[in-house]
Amino acid sequence: MSQSEATAVACANIAFVKYWGNLDADRRLPLNDSLSMNLSAATTTTHVRFDPRLAADRVALDGETRYGPTRARVVAHLDRVRRRAGIGTRAEVTSANSFPMGTGIASSASGFAALTLAAVGAVGLERSEEELSVLARLGSGSAARSVPGGFVEWRAADTDAGSFARSLAPPEHWDLRDVVAVVSRDHKAVGSADGHTAARTSPYLGARLAELPPRLGAVRRALLARDLASLGPAAEAEALSLHAVAMTSRPPVLYWQPGTLALLHVVRRWRSQGLGVYFTLDAGPNVHLLCEGHDAAAVEAELAHLDYVEFSLHNRPGGAARLVTAAQDVPA
Ligand code: DP6
Repeated sequence: MSQSEATAVACANIAFVKYWGNLDADRRLPLNDSLSMNLSAATTTTHVRFDPRLAADRVALDGETRYGPTRARVVAHLDRVRRRAGIGTRAEVTSANSFPMGTGIASSASGFAALTLAAVGAVGLERSEEELSVLARLGSGSAARSVPGGFVEWRAADTDAGSFARSLAPPEHWDLRDVVAVVSRDHKAVGSADGHTAARTSPYLGARLAELPPRLGAVRRALLARDLASLGPAAEAEALSLHAVAMTSRPPVLYWQPGTLALLHVVRRWRSQGLGVYFTLDAGPNVHLLCEGHDAAAVEAELAHLDYVEFSLHNRPGGAARLVTAAQDVPA
């Protein structure tokens, strides 16, 4: 093939019902359905250029050339796209996050969703949104949910083609905000891939999985009804359930830092004082504060008083992953 390239942008997402544990780790087939909102202010922009003159793939993330496991994971994803396109051409991948590097804000969801769209776009393959979501899932499970826009549900299934995400409602459906309070920039002690494996060793995993179907139904109904008073408690219970499984895995995985626990108490206090704010957590120490648009300025003002919060990132519901340039042939 001649040179061809494309650029794509995708949002990270925050799950209200979370992915924690796999049925099949190689294919990232999750144990349970999950539901999330895309994050408007946490995006990855990725440029992929296939070039027959390259002897090996090149990967640069946030301005740094990557080697080792990070590069290998990107190369494995390019290989999936090359297999589907029937080509062997090597590529240069250049990717940048909108949020500052090393802030503990997960970038694998936005990263693999953007990489999927850019690589598929660059080789000129036609793929439906569902197929793109399946492909993104193979790179990082939560990336399946960063392909569609707004509020998104990802189905668990025991086949590769059956496990993809779909939009439940567009970003305009509800002015829900996620203000991420960063309490630690440290790199995660245990990456999510190892966390998913460890989950299977927790005696509480079965109890968690049993409570998920009714919780998923309640969260879906609350979202569709724009009902934060129902969504918030379910999202908090869900975050604590995931961390209970992590903390009781063998060996235990403890993501919380002192600032994490302090914020959980503070959110409950603000709520008792009348502010409509709830928390959720990913596999890390930073706390996601959920509120409606009319309370967001008050939440940010309160956060500004807390010296253990390094900074915050204010998100609205984000759109679908998209190509920002079409595939184009460039003369070699
Ligand atoms: C706690 O999608 O990061 O954020 O498939 O290994 O890349 P990999 O895992 P990843 O796991 C996300 C875990 C979570 C919950 C969620 O986003 O659903």
